[in-house]
Amino acid sequence: MNEYYISQFDDKDYELFLQNLIKHFDLDLRGYKQHRLRRRTDILLKKYNLKSYSEYFELLKKDREKWDEFLNKLTINVTEFFRNPDKWVFLKNNILPEIIKEDNGKIKAWSAGCSTGEEPYTLAIILDILGVLRSSTIIGGDFDEDALEKAKLGVYPEKSLVNVPENIKLKYFKKVDEDKYEIIERIKKRVDFKKVNLLLDDFDKNFDLIICRNVVIYFDMEAKDKLYNKFYESLKPGGVLFVGSTERIFNYKEIGFSSIAPFFYKKEKK
Ligand SMILES: C[S@@+](CC[C@H](N)C(=O)[O-])C[C@H]1O[C@@H](n2cnc3c(N)ncnc32)[C@H](O)[C@@H]1O
Repeated sequence: MNEYYISQFDDKDYELFLQNLIKHFDLDLRGYKQHRLRRRTDILLKKYNLKSYSEYFELLKKDREKWDEFLNKLTINVTEFFRNPDKWVFLKNNILPEIIKEDNGKIKAWSAGCSTGEEPYTLAIILDILGVLRSSTIIGGDFDEDALEKAKLGVYPEKSLVNVPENIKLKYFKKVDEDKYEIIERIKKRVDFKKVNLLLDDFDKNFDLIICRNVVIYFDMEAKDKLYNKFYESLKPGGVLFVGSTERIFNYKEIGFSSIAPFFYKKEKK
C-alpha cells in the first residue's frame, strides 16, 4: 500500500479531529498508520459531501449509525473460524501439547483483537478436543463494543464457518436459521469477552498463549513495538505469542522471544 497520501483536506483540522475523537469518544488513534486512516476518513467526508473534518466530527456526535460506519471502516473486523486452518492445526498438534504438559492442562489464553469472537471460540473448540477446556481460561478482548456484543451472542452466518470441518460443525454448532449457526453453550460459556484497548490499557499477566492476528496491520512501527513488548511481559516464561499469517516480529530476539515456528514466538525461560 502507498505509505504516502496527500489529502485535499486541511492538516490542522485533521489534528484537531484526532484530538476530538480522544476527548469525546475516548478513541485514541495516534498509534495508527496515519496515511491509511486519513485516506479512509477522507472517503467518508466525500461520501457525505463535507468540507472539513470538523463537520464530519459534528455528524459523528449526532448520528450513531455514522459513528458505527466510521469504526467499521477503520478497524475492519473481518474474521472467521479457523482462519488460516493449517496454523490452527499446527497450534493443536505442536504448540498446545507442550503447554498443556507444563501447566497440567490449566491453560490461560487471550485472543487480543478478537473481533466478533470466531478466534477465541476456535481456540475453545481445540482445547475441548484436547480435553482441557474445562480447566482453561480463555479471554477475548477488543476495543469495538459492537463486535464484542456479537461475540457474546455467538451467532454467525455460514460464511464464517467455511473452514470448519463438517464433524466439528456438527458437534459444536447449532443451525438456528437458514444461514445462521450458533456456537453451543458449553463452548460459549468458556470464553470471557472484555473491552481492551491494546494501545492504551494495562494487560493481565501470566498467559500461556496470546493470539494477536490481523490487528497490528493498522498500527505504526512504534505502536507495534510497544505492543509486542507488552505481550512479552504478559506471558509466562515458556508462553507463546501466535501472530497473523502475514506478520513477523523482526526484533523478536531483542524483546526476549525465540521463533519456534513461522508465526509462533516463545518467551524464553531465563
Ligand atoms: C481484522 S480483525 C482480526 C480478528 C481476528 N484476530 C482474526 O485474525 O480473525 C481486527 C480487530 O482488531 C481490533 N482492534 C483494532 N485496534 C484495536 C485496539 N487498539 N485495541 C483492541 N482491538 C483493536 C478491531 O476492532 C478488529 O475487531
